[in-house]
Amino acid sequence: MIKSLAYLGVNSPHYEEWESFGPEVLGVQLAGRGPDGAVHLRLDEAAHRITIHPGPHNAIAYIGWSVQDEAAAKAIAGRVVAHGIEATRANAAECAQRKVEGFYWFKDPSGFRHELSWGQYHTVAAFQPGRPISGFRTGEQGLGHVVLAVTDLDEGDRFYREVMGFHPSDTVRDGPLEAHFYHINGRHHSLAISALPNREVAFLHLMVEVNSLDDVGHAHDLCEQRAIPITTTLGRHSNDHMISFYMYTPSGFRLEYGWGGLEVDHDLWVPRTYDKPSSWGHRRQHKELTALKLNEPAAR
Ligand SMILES: [Fe+2]
Repeated sequence: MIKSLAYLGVNSPHYEEWESFGPEVLGVQLAGRGPDGAVHLRLDEAAHRITIHPGPHNAIAYIGWSVQDEAAAKAIAGRVVAHGIEATRANAAECAQRKVEGFYWFKDPSGFRHELSWGQYHTVAAFQPGRPISGFRTGEQGLGHVVLAVTDLDEGDRFYREVMGFHPSDTVRDGPLEAHFYHINGRHHSLAISALPNREVAFLHLMVEVNSLDDVGHAHDLCEQRAIPITTTLGRHSNDHMISFYMYTPSGFRLEYGWGGLEVDHDLWVPRTYDKPSSWGHRRQHKELTALKLNEPAAR
């Protein structure tokens, strides 16, 4: 079983901008550089959770999930292989770069690279936020959530549920918008999927959650002061109750910065359907800023 979203990797020619954007706007801590020059970002006790690799263009490289141990990773990898998709055990250099004991990786039917990792390294020295914030809500709920635009929504829904083991939280159907949300721990969703009208595959956003609404407000002020595009205005989601806004990062993907996400109890939860993604706010703007494409990682 997948336990949580562990880490995320992106390729970008603007990777070095994260050395200021990360700590100063998001409040994350710089966690050194990778062998390829990648900027590692820390949000909690984990050694790092977000990595921006140098690359010729902005692209999503990999989505890292944590599982109990190697046997758990192998079990999921086995289902992936039975589904007709190749799964590979990472070598020692790749694991050292991710700061995990080991992982299996594969590409899902839309082409996203998923990594099933175990033994994520933790740093004993206390997390030091890049600016004064209350901290990130992570722990058993992991890094946050990712939202993907897949080629075929029904195929994606089957794959993420039946092969990867995600549990449905709910569905939003609002005119042409249809999105499925999935949980694997107490976080309302660690993964959500949608399909774009042109069926193009894209990484739609990463969500990180802070422990205080004021932290969201301060981030909002910083985006306005620095002319960082706010691609979705402040609002509250209907399904996970998150109060958030979305900013455009230096590497061409949207980052939802939120507070107050709903906690779900899997044993009691019954999937539902909503007619709107948000109860207030969340107006889309800067629609010219397109979503992130997927790509091979620049370096392994
Ligand atoms: Fe979100």
